[in-house]
Amino acid sequence: MKLKIDKIEINEDIYPRKQLSQKRIESYQESLRAGAKFPPILVQKIIDEDGENTIVLDGVHRITAYKNEKYKEIEVDYWKDKILDKRDPEVLEQLRIVSTQKNLGHGVPLTEGDIEFQCIKIADARSIDKLKDLEGYLAKKFVLTQPRISQMISPILNKKRATRDSLIMRLRLLGWKQEIISGLCGINQERVSQIIKNINSYKTNKKFEEGKTIDELATFYHFDQTLTWAIVLQDRSDKERFELLDFEPKVYDVWNYSECDKLMGQEYPGQIPGQIVLNALYYHTKQGDLIVDLMAGGGTTNDACLLMGRKCYSYDINPPENRKDIIQHDYLNGPPDGVKKAGLIFLDPPYYKKKEAEYGSESISALNREDYLKAMDKLAEVCEGHRVALVMGKYYDYENPRDGIFLAEYVNIFEKHDFRQIDRISINQPPPEGGQGRRAVNSAKEEHRMEILARDLIIFGGI
Ligand SMILES: C[S@@+](CC[C@H](N)C(=O)[O-])C[C@H]1O[C@@H](n2cnc3c(N)ncnc32)[C@H](O)[C@@H]1O
Repeated sequence: MKLKIDKIEINEDIYPRKQLSQKRIESYQESLRAGAKFPPILVQKIIDEDGENTIVLDGVHRITAYKNEKYKEIEVDYWKDKILDKRDPEVLEQLRIVSTQKNLGHGVPLTEGDIEFQCIKIADARSIDKLKDLEGYLAKKFVLTQPRISQMISPILNKKRATRDSLIMRLRLLGWKQEIISGLCGINQERVSQIIKNINSYKTNKKFEEGKTIDELATFYHFDQTLTWAIVLQDRSDKERFELLDFEPKVYDVWNYSECDKLMGQEYPGQIPGQIVLNALYYHTKQGDLIVDLMAGGGTTNDACLLMGRKCYSYDINPPENRKDIIQHDYLNGPPDGVKKAGLIFLDPPYYKKKEAEYGSESISALNREDYLKAMDKLAEVCEGHRVALVMGKYYDYENPRDGIFLAEYVNIFEKHDFRQIDRISINQPPPEGGQGRRAVNSAKEEHRMEILARDLIIFGGI
């Protein structure tokens, strides 16, 4: 059957050749001018994030020659009659394999570089529990030896295993139970404890003492810097940890930090400096305590707990994809399991409507004032009986002043649930700098209103 050429896409995600042969295209063009006919190209109808599309699986040299000769249509065969969903990882892999196999079979030979490129994409797209026997499978499909395929994909397999292993170690140091780690990582508990044993046998701490830097160790083991620090700091006191991290806890009740320490948390709307959590842990918890964060955002509390040798279970209604150490949980449905044994519950809720757009429609920031305050009441109920560290700033709406919420209202709510304020620290935000800062100042002046920087950390003791 014939298809309009401008309706056919060459999809680099699937097509194996990194480079086309100009010589081959020109020779096809010459043949076309001499009246030659070519066999149909192989295409497939797919659907992906961009909608429906028809893509070439085999015949890119031919279709390019047709295009150059200003043909409007080309003869095609479909691989499968039905539309395939390219977002399904198994379908994507099949499309890559068929496209590579067809291109191996004839015409300009695929280079080993092209095959390697495809193999890496295939290995990268597979989840860690589906990597077993991949080398043998690809060797058969692409008629290469298994050692050659191993050579091609071993860097990606090693990286994936290192990512899994560092997640296991991170969760272990955060005090997660082996059975939970095993479920999350898709491997049995014996393997989990083997991996933890292996990592401990690296003697990272000793290497650090012998002069290797955290940077060098992190690169060597494929760990992130926070985890590398956490491994090195194991069994050390708070004081020793602070000395090595070059961190001074605050001795006055004003904890202002102008920047977020990169070791704690990732860029996230409303991210707080991890240094605030370090201070809170230092003054209100001890090593080995379990900390629970019910609205963990970008994982600042987890990372601070790793550095301080505290256990931590973190939850969020909408955890970032890359933070497997944050469990999806809506606290409005009740306390998650971790709460029972919490020595401190860390709370950094959305300050009512601030960042409503960023947190999504399920966040409590999407609620109206009355329901938001009810959600705060539920929060206090969920935390009853525990020590709580609440980060909070006022919310003020100049157009609708009665919609504002001030800190006293939160304190009242918590007091209704038998909490008492036992500490209060000023943790004001720094004013924005550069262009953003100038714009904020200008519009504040013009509109006769103040920008809000004040923020407090309130520590409640449960009775
Ligand atoms: C201010 S952010 C936390 C930022 C975090 N402390 C950090 O440093 O990255 C507030 C978080 O509350 C979460 N959240 C909102 N409603 C929630 C709910 N009902 N249950 C759990 N988390 C919720 C949002 O998804 C958001 O990540």
